Amino acid sequence: MILTTAASNGTPNAAPMGVWVGEDWSLVLRPFRDTATARNLAQMPEAVINITNDSALFFRTAFKDEVSAKEELPFEASQTVEVPRLHGMLAYLEVGVEPRQSPKAAKEPKSEVDVLEYECSVHSIDAPNQPPVVYSRARCAAIEAVIHATRIRALHASDPAKSKQLLAQIQECRALVQRVAPASPHARVVEDTLRLVHRWMKA
Ligand SMILES: Cc1cc2nc3c(=O)[nH]c(=O)nc-3n(C[C@H](O)[C@H](O)[C@H](O)COP(=O)(O)O)c2cc1C
Repeated sequence: MILTTAASNGTPNAAPMGVWVGEDWSLVLRPFRDTATARNLAQMPEAVINITNDSALFFRTAFKDEVSAKEELPFEASQTVEVPRLHGMLAYLEVGVEPRQSPKAAKEPKSEVDVLEYECSVHSIDAPNQPPVVYSRARCAAIEAVIHATRIRALHASDPAKSKQLLAQIQECRALVQRVAPASPHARVVEDTLRLVHRWMKA
């Protein structure tokens, strides 16, 4: 999923974010403290969970600072929240968010908690674009590669051993994509991802 949020001056942001299902079926977001997403949620407590499986959009929104996009992201007005959503997604959950303390964070001083937790209350669910579901191993592998790369970006300076391990995982994703869909957009996503990773790991 790609989460859209906005700063208090209205500037929108989009970033891939996991959504966890809590004990009581609540939806929980866990942005790292140093993300624009976390800063925005602290200023404007609402968001849109944009549901998509577009691997190129995952890449583009994960690496906004590294990759200059040819086109603006297609933000459009949401139905029930001020934060905009992205045009053409499979479905949207418009949510309000409230900070909550994770059991781990309860044991640590606030300033040392890297991952924040927000519980969502769902204002609306809209699923306007539901295509037939086709399982694509290449799509999943490309999205996995982007996830591993966001971790390498955060860790390459402090934990080279872990970064090497993650690089090996990206290379496995690449081998799979090359086998099942070598000429697909997902293959391009993996190659672009590896280019960024090599740049960080060389630096
Ligand atoms: C599928 C996927 C899921 C991700 N989930 C999270 C997450 O739950 N929390 C987080 O902090 N980063 C997550 N990331 C990494 C962020 O998307 C990445 O750090 C991004 O650059 C943050 O953007 P922002 O600074 O605009 O918020 C995820 C990346 C991918 C590709």
